[in-house]
Amino acid sequence: MTPTPYWTDGTVTLYLGDCREVLPGLTEQPVACVADPPYGETIADWDVWPDGWVAAVGDVLPASASLWCFGSARMFLDRAYEFAGWKYGQEALWVKHNGSGPTSRDRLVRVHEWAYQWYRGRWTDLHHEWERERVTANRGTARKPARAAAHQREGRQNAWADDGTRQPRSVAHVIHAPSVRGKGRHPDEKPLAVVSALVRESTPPGALVLDPFAGSGTTLVAARLLGRRAIGIESDERFAEIIVQRLEQATLLDRDAQPAGTTTAVQAALLEEPA
Ligand SMILES: C[S@@+](CC[C@H](N)C(=O)[O-])C[C@H]1O[C@@H](n2cnc3c(N)ncnc32)[C@H](O)[C@@H]1O
Repeated sequence: MTPTPYWTDGTVTLYLGDCREVLPGLTEQPVACVADPPYGETIADWDVWPDGWVAAVGDVLPASASLWCFGSARMFLDRAYEFAGWKYGQEALWVKHNGSGPTSRDRLVRVHEWAYQWYRGRWTDLHHEWERERVTANRGTARKPARAAAHQREGRQNAWADDGTRQPRSVAHVIHAPSVRGKGRHPDEKPLAVVSALVRESTPPGALVLDPFAGSGTTLVAARLLGRRAIGIESDERFAEIIVQRLEQATLLDRDAQPAGTTTAVQAALLEEPA
């Protein structure tokens, strides 16, 4: 059965419900997924691992697809069987200012979270675009660029050239963003800068991205500001209402900003402080 949107503006659509029930009814196919599932590691009422969600997402994505997934090492090790059929692509490490989890003397305070990119099909067939970061002094040896995805081959240089930018690193760059814990709209809200980088990496402009665990709507806001379309699913109506408020704010911001997809629009959004 086709699900009824909880909210839509034609670019971003939010569904209220369990993603495993909503996903089979979608009529449009997302090209990629950025997911931040409940890790199942705390006693929060929403933090329950939904068995089978990876397969449900896999059923709606194309044969060649990217799936970015936030999680802890414990989560990925315990739930590795859920990712059967997906290949490891790369990982990004988000370093937080404040630790998460219980503070006890027999464990390190965890100040990081992983985002793993899983994929299926051929890596070079998928969209990959990291926004290059500016550096004052590049140090490196000239070398040929690595194999690139088909859409990136045209016009690429044959040798490394210092243009004052570099490929972002897996730990530094936008992955290092302040935690919004305690001041955010969702107890596990991810920074917009981190999520924006993953949306941009895995989807071309105008493409449809899926977030089956929308939370406070970070992926949906990122997609809107990057000129992508998005489908979000959230099972808790308290959070769905927050998402709608946030998207309506993003719409206002978007209207006053540069054309969607420009850095200026994203930077403007990054200035937005959680309420
Ligand atoms: C880790 S949070 C996502 C936070 C989000 N990335 C953000 O930046 O705000 C996971 C969310 O998934 C929701 N959720 C849990 N199980 C779900 C399910 N089966 N289907 C859809 N949403 C679910 C929870 O209510 C929670 O808001």
